[in-house]
This record gives sequence, C-alpha cells and structure tokens, in this order.
Amino acid sequence: MLEEERQGEATLLKRESTKKSRKLYLESYGCAMNFADSEIVASIMKENGFETTGNSEEADLILINTCSIRDKAEQRIRKRLMQFNTLKKKKRSNMMIGILGCMAERLKEQLLEEEKLVDLVVGPDAYRELPSLVEEVTDGRKAVNVLLSREETYAEINPVRLDTSGVTAFISIMRGCDNMCSFCVVPFTRGRERSRDPETIVHEAKYLFEQGYREVTLLGQNVDSYRWNISKKGEILDPEKETVNFAQLMEKVALVNPELRIRFSTSHPKDMTDDVLHIMAKYENICKYIHLPVQSGNTDVLKRMNRGYTREWYMNRIDAIRRIMPTAAISTDIIAGFCNETDEEHAETLSIMKEVVYEFAYMYKYSERPKTLAERKFEDDVPEAVKQKRLEEIIAIQHENSFVRNKASLGKTFKVLVEGFSKKSDQMLFGRNSQNAVIVFDRGDIQPKTYVDVRINECTSATLIGEVVNQ
Ligand code: 5AD
Ligand code: SF4
Repeated sequence: MLEEERQGEATLLKRESTKKSRKLYLESYGCAMNFADSEIVASIMKENGFETTGNSEEADLILINTCSIRDKAEQRIRKRLMQFNTLKKKKRSNMMIGILGCMAERLKEQLLEEEKLVDLVVGPDAYRELPSLVEEVTDGRKAVNVLLSREETYAEINPVRLDTSGVTAFISIMRGCDNMCSFCVVPFTRGRERSRDPETIVHEAKYLFEQGYREVTLLGQNVDSYRWNISKKGEILDPEKETVNFAQLMEKVALVNPELRIRFSTSHPKDMTDDVLHIMAKYENICKYIHLPVQSGNTDVLKRMNRGYTREWYMNRIDAIRRIMPTAAISTDIIAGFCNETDEEHAETLSIMKEVVYEFAYMYKYSERPKTLAERKFEDDVPEAVKQKRLEEIIAIQHENSFVRNKASLGKTFKVLVEGFSKKSDQMLFGRNSQNAVIVFDRGDIQPKTYVDVRINECTSATLIGEVVNQ
C-alpha cells in the first residue's frame, strides 16, 4: 500500500471513529409536525454515527428544530441559540450548532453571517443532506441547504422515537401546505403540499404496534387533502395503481389492529368530508376527536384570512360531526385581533365559541409574519392592548366551555389508554379517553400501555379525575 493511500485510510478511520462517538442534542419547537421531523432527523443521524443525548453539555452537535409561526416562537429560539453559544465558548469549542425547520429559510443569512449564531442551517426538505453538511462544518466551513422539494416525504425512513413513553407516536402522512391562509407562514417555510406513500404509512403503524405502541396520530397541515395517485383536480394519475384519499388511508391504518388507536391532525373545515366522519364512526379505534380550527367566527374576517369557508359552512361541518358522531369532542384554533378586525367581528368569534362549546382551544394573538398575504395586503392595525383584551375574552369563554364539557363527563365511564404516571403523584396514572380528555386515576396494579375503564368522579377545567371500574 502506498504511503498516500495509508494516510487516506488513517483519516478515514479517524473520521469513522470520531463519527461513532459523536453525540447529538436535538431540541424541537412548534407543532407536532416539527417534533415528528426531529425523529426523522435522529434516524438519519443515527445511520451516520450520531447517538442522541438529553444533555446539551456533552453534545458534539446541537440541532434546534425551529418554528416561525409567531414572532414569539422565533424570539424564544433566538434566546436558546445564545445560551448554546455561551456553552460553546465556555466549555466546548468544537461543538457545532445548527438550526433546522421553519426558521431556516427565513433567517439563514442573519443567523449564519451577521449574528454568527450557527454553523449549519438546514430546511425541512433537506434533512437527508444533514450528514454531509455536518462534515462540511467539521472541515471548517459553514453549511446551508434550505431548498424546498415537491417530492420529499421521507417515506421509507423509520423515525427514531424521542422522549416517548412508548405508548403514543406521530406518523407524518404529508408535508407542506397549498392553502395560503393569509396569516400563515407555513407555505413559505415548508413548501408545496405532497402526500406520502400509503404503504409506508401502514407499514410504520404496524411496526409501532409490534413495538408496543397503542396510539398513532397521523400528521399533516391539512389531512383532508391527503391524496395518493389522485391529481389536485381529482383525476386518477396511474390507472394501474390504487388511489387513496384520507378516509381510505384512515381505514387502512384502523385495520392494522383494533387495539391500536388512531388520531389525526389537522383537519380543514373547507375540505372535511362526511366520508371521513363516517369512517371515524365505523371504527371504534379511530378516536372520536376532531381538531377543527375556526380562526374566527366572522365571515368577513375569514375571507380576509383566505380560509375558504364562511361561518355558516363551518357550522354545517360542526352539525355533520354531531349528527354522524354524537360523542365526538371538538377542539379549535382561534386568532384574536387579525388585521382590521372590528369589535363586532370579534363578538362573532365569541358567539361561535358559545355555540359550539369546544372541549379545548388553542388561542393566539395575531402576529404578522413576513412574506405572508396578510403582510402584503393588510395593515396589522389592531392595537396590542385590544388584541390582548380580545384574547382574554376568548380565553375566559374557553375556560367556561372546558369546564362545562368536563362537568358533563361526571359519572360517565370511559375506555382509557394508560400512558404513564401523573406529573403530580407517582401513585396516580394518567391516560386519555377517545375524546382526548386527560384522565387521572389511582395506580392500583395497572400497567401503562393497557386499556382500562375509568368512571369520572371529579373534574377541573383541565383534568378529569376518576376510578378504575374494570380492567
Ligand atoms: N399569528 C397568530 N396565530 C397564527 N397561527 C398561524 N399563523 C399565525 C399568526 N401569524 C395559528 C393558527 C393556526 C395555528 C397552528 O397557529 O390558529 O391554526
Ligand atoms: Fe411552526 Fe408552522 Fe413550522 Fe409547525 S409548520 S414548526 S407550526 S411554522
């Protein structure tokens, strides 16, 4: 062997051995989708010799999976980046810091060149490139890939499950979003909508069940527009192949095993069909819970938001849920103080909340995002104090609604999937019913990952407290 070749081999070996011992610390912000992406990243990095660690102080590589949905989320992540930079300066000069996800495209130059807070910037469709980008950084360069793709779904990658109790898991079924809600940054950060091969989804669900998981949540920005081998206009693309819509996909996953619960998120009121509701009603293991973001109760505001439905259309969807699945729980997302929102328009948001009586709601103040339709078309003209006041009114109604809904559960018995120990006491277990309510009960000799029947004896607006009546 020539000396040069030997040297080459030595560097290769060195790199192999450093690869083996390298540690990755991964933090996720934002939606469940981001969390699921981090599990894909962990899998890609594991294949390339990176073990995950829960301790940032021993990390060789820190990756933060970022969210751009509101300004506040971005600020929090910046703070975190500063903390990691301090750690790098004080203790670990060779540590690499990277950002992934939704802030990547938006802030790449600023974070990389101007503020020099990161070594690596990788967008949501470029995770397969991470190992080679990390090598570039190891060689002393800064590395960026924020290209968005029309095809990437990471279909065949088997995610490494992070921070889980081994009971519930996310399965990503599609990526991106084509809806163009005027307030939303997602189409810009995550690109065009594309669906994942259904076979790989069912395969992942089967694998999870075999590993002991008992609940999967199918994730997409708008699950109702999931389509496989069907064009946007509804035409079949390849007559030789099976076509699959969301209702059919859900049925396939429900058939994996009756002991595997199915949830999904997020539905879109403009696209949610009765077919989906009928499939939900047909299978006991599809949870009777729908997250149906309303955003506003006023048709003019909905129009400015480019949501594609009116208040009446939304209420028609609520009526369909109640008719087809009378026991279903419904939750929502609401934005307070969107551009030009008047007091009267806001009052309609309060009234729709009173009409629907949501079990749960995620409530936000409008936060203008760069590049969005709203930023270009409307003025963010509702004063901060008014936004705050409106948000507080929304929260107060939801508090009341959750309490009303929880009180209605008193005395009822629910099948609960046991997830783990209650945060407050190790003598108590917690789990969820089909409607997604958290239920706490005495531990007894019950094990997590099993189903038990629990009768509800007490409640707060956030939790139901009960006792096991049957194991
Ligand atoms: N400002 C406030 N809330 C927003 N959301 C999305 N974009 C914004 C924004 N610019 C909320 C919506 C969405 C949820 C995920 O986040 O309610 O459904
Ligand atoms: Fe945040 Fe939206 Fe990106 Fe999820 S998709 S991380 S909510 S900006």
